[in-house]
Formats: sequence, C-alpha cells, structure tokens
Amino acid sequence: MANLASTSVVLMLWLISLVSYSYIVHVTAQWPRGSSTRFYDFKVQSMRITKLCNTRNIVTVNRIFPGPVIYAQEDDRIIVKITNETPYNTTIHWHGIRQRLSCWFDGPSYITQCPIQAGQSFTYEFTLVQQKGTFFWHAHVSWLRATVYGAFVVYPKTGVPFPFKHPYEEHIIILGEYWNQDMVQLERTTTASGGSPPVADAYTINGHPGPNYNCSNNDVYKIDVVPGKTYLLRLINAGLNSENFFAIANHNLTIVEADAEYTKPFTTDRVMLGPGQTINVLVTADQPVEKYSMAMGPYSSAKGAAFQNILAIAHFQYSGAVTNSVFLPAQLPRVGDNLAVKTVMDGLRSLNKVNVPKEIDTNLFITIGLNVQRCHSKTPKQNCQGLNNGVMAASMNNISFIKPKISLLEAYYRKINGSFTEDFPVVPINYYDFVNGAPNNIPNNTQSLNGTRVVVLEYGTRVQLILQDTGTVTTENHPIHLHGFSFYVVGYGSGNYDPQTANFNLVDPPYMNTIGVPVGGWTAIRFVSDNPGVWFMHCHLDVHQSWGLGTAFIVKNGKGNLETLPHPPADLPRC
Ligand code: C2O
Repeated sequence: MANLASTSVVLMLWLISLVSYSYIVHVTAQWPRGSSTRFYDFKVQSMRITKLCNTRNIVTVNRIFPGPVIYAQEDDRIIVKITNETPYNTTIHWHGIRQRLSCWFDGPSYITQCPIQAGQSFTYEFTLVQQKGTFFWHAHVSWLRATVYGAFVVYPKTGVPFPFKHPYEEHIIILGEYWNQDMVQLERTTTASGGSPPVADAYTINGHPGPNYNCSNNDVYKIDVVPGKTYLLRLINAGLNSENFFAIANHNLTIVEADAEYTKPFTTDRVMLGPGQTINVLVTADQPVEKYSMAMGPYSSAKGAAFQNILAIAHFQYSGAVTNSVFLPAQLPRVGDNLAVKTVMDGLRSLNKVNVPKEIDTNLFITIGLNVQRCHSKTPKQNCQGLNNGVMAASMNNISFIKPKISLLEAYYRKINGSFTEDFPVVPINYYDFVNGAPNNIPNNTQSLNGTRVVVLEYGTRVQLILQDTGTVTTENHPIHLHGFSFYVVGYGSGNYDPQTANFNLVDPPYMNTIGVPVGGWTAIRFVSDNPGVWFMHCHLDVHQSWGLGTAFIVKNGKGNLETLPHPPADLPRC
C-alpha cells in the first residue's frame, strides 16, 4: 500500500516535471529566460528634501536619492514592479541594457510604451543577455531623470573574475545635476518659451553638491580609503543637460570599462562623461596620507551656451589623515578643452579583438545639431525667446522629432496608422559645409521640419551610421545614445566626414551605447540590427531631446527562431 502510494507520487512528480519541462523549453524558445531571477519593487514617490538652502519635493524611487541600486549577474532575469505614486507620468529606462527580444520593457515614453500614469503600475521583465558591467536606470519622461535615477551593477557569472586585479573595494559615483525647481514644470516652461533652460543650480556627486555651494558644507559625499589599496569606481553620468569632467586630486584613473564593456587599461588623470555614459576606473591610494578632492565640472563645447561653473566636490580621504587638514584640490581641464576629451576617447579600445561587421548593407549619414525655427506665435515675447527671436529646435538630418501620442512600438505592432511615417531621410536633404559653412540665423534655410519619421531596417542588416555634427547654430559635442544595441565606434574625427581620408579601427574599437560625437566633427558606428522592435536614438542632453534631436529605428522580425518580438505584456500602460 505504502509502496503503491509512493509510486503514484513519483509518477505524479514525473508528470509535473514533464509538463513544466516542456513549458520551459517553449518559453526558452521565445524569451531569453536568465539564470537566476531578481525582483525589485520600485515605488515612484515624492520626497521632501532640503538642498542648497531650499526645501522642496523631488520625485524619487522608494524615497531614496539617488535611487536604489540594482545588483545582478550576467544573464540574470530582472523583474521590477514600478508603482507610480506621484501625480506625474513616469516610465523607467534601463540604460545600456540591450533588451534582447524585450523591446516592450525598454522604457522610453511614447517610443516603446505609454507612460505609467498616476496611481498605475507596470512590471518590467528582461534578461541581461551576455551583459555585465556598470549600467544605470532612469526616468524616461519629461525631465524627471534629474532626480529619478540609480545605478545598475551587473557582475560576471560566479567564478568569472574581472580582467584586472580584484579591487579592494568598489564604489558607485553618479554625477548629476540638481535644480531647485519642479522638473516637469521646467520642461514645459522651457519648451513654451522657445528659449534655453536655466543651468542647473548645482552639480552633484551621488546627490551631494559639496562645499562650493550655498548651505552645502556638510552635503558632501566621501570615500574613505586605506593607503596602498586599489579601488574600483563605477562612474555614471546621469546629468540632464551638461557633459562633465571628473578627476581626483593627485591620483591617476585607469579606465578598464566603458559603457559596460571591458576596455584595454588606459591611464589618465581625468575623464569626460556625457550624460548616458558610464566608465569604470581603478584608483590606487598610492599618495601621501592626506585628504584629496574628487571634482566634477562642466565640459561645454558650444559657443555662447550658458553652463554652471561651480564644481561639485566629494572627498577621497585616506585613513590616518589629520582631521582638520585641508583637501588638496582636484584639477579639471578648462571648460572648453576639446583635446582632453579626444585624449580619453583615443584611449578607449575594446579589451579583446571584436567582431565588427566588415561588410555593410546599409549606409546611413545623419547630421545632428541645433536649429532655430521661425516664430509663429501671436505672443512672441513669451514664446520666441530663442536666438534671433525664433524658437530653439534640434534635429537629425534637419527633422525635429516629435513624440507621437501613442507609443511607436504599439502603433507599429498593432498596425495603427497615422502616428509616424517611415520616411526618415537616410542621408541629408541638402548637402553643405556642415561644420563651417552652416548659416546660423533664420533668413538662411536651416530651419528644421517637424515630424515623427523613423528608419525601417530588415532583421540582420549590417549598418554603418555616420553622425555628423553641424554648426547650424553652434557646433557642439552631442552624446548620442542608441537603445536596443551597443555599437562599435569604428572612427571619428574633426570637420566634415570624408570617406577618402577617414581612418577606421576594425580591430579593437570600443563597444558603446552612447557616443560623444566630437564638436564640429563626426563619428562612424557599426551594428547589426538583430533585435526586433522600435529603438530610440537621441541626444542624451534632455533639452536637445525635447527640441527634437532624435529618431527611431524599426527593426523588423526575422524568420528564424528567436528573431520575433513576443506579444506585449498584459499590463502595458495605456495612453
Ligand atoms: Cu538613457 Cu533614451 O536614454
């Protein structure tokens, strides 16, 4: 009897395992599942905060600022439930995560989803397929990223070491920009004014402005270090509208990873990060036992653009340093030091030889820059505060991207007509001397056209994209970010791109997701469009994004296994 019962239990278990086994096989064929699964609960909430002598509400996740860190390992499955407890629309984007076959969970509002409205929730689910390193997450609605951001750290699989000596400790350093203002309101008033936004009230390091600002003497981030030890710093620029230099007084930084891909070790004494970029550096506490500053300051390449010029300072303090001794100040490059930026860029090489597409199926040439549109307002004093009494805009190939009313991905997937067109020009409509000959005022026709135009790519297309900066208003370094892919940065240079003279690195180019296109120059990137969905490409300076510096790629499904975008999740927010 007992025997019979246990036999039937065994039989039942066997049946269950058979059923769940075939279920898993089926799911694996559809979605990358991940090795282990990690759950996070994010409540988007307002929090009262006092900074810079000013008390106000900021939007945060779980009332933590900067927000909670997500920790995971390569190939893990991540599940994050977002509940929106604020009056604002929100979404979260997982910056740098390639979202293989999970475009629905990418996060940019009106591109892959409608915003999560007040009181609603949405659960993001994705797998970190073959990805590890330093990422971050941030709000992708309006200018909420100013306070809604946090680090996302992915370790190698268990037993897999870093390709460098294991650091004694590691620290996350998030650079940010802080305003004493409601950011959603600020975006609205800026766009309505036709002019430029005010500069940030402060730069911040892990949310702290440091002693150079009013009422911030004790609002300072600090790392305690042990003499002789080596530290891994995970640098993230989550700032809104400014690119930044970072340095530690008297200490070298050895870059070992950029945009969550290993690089050949490159030693420098300062780095530049545009918003959206992450860089891992090793720092050895090999200097006299003292207190040292870490500084974040502006890199501003645009002529005539305003910027915050007060440095954010944090402390790098040796144990044993005399408590009341002064901090040795960190030296940053000049605000407009383009050479310092190029030197860091030149140092970025993939650690190993990489598999760059050598043959190209589709060549794209896209100009990026600012524009001034003619004033059509009946109240120009209020609405046309841009240059020459016009309206500031920005564009790719002179098309200013207008976000649609429903998400592009839904419109595409459900075949809803009327919210976008597939005619984004893959080369400029007019050729001129983009960098030098570009006129900078309204009578010359460098106005942009408004549109929601996208580029359609067949599955598996090998793409080369030249990004060309223009001087239409002013030349400027733009941090261009592509969702859904990393790309090889095979070349860059100053001036107008010339295929005759351009030098490409097809051996060990860096594999990035955000590239600072040199001021008055160009960058060549390559990728294979093997991830179906709709992928935003835009300038990661939020003001430029609001002005239209972006477009999207529709990547069609392929024919094989694992080449089709799955159905949308049931809780996908509605507009
Ligand atoms: Cu980090 Cu579309 O953004």
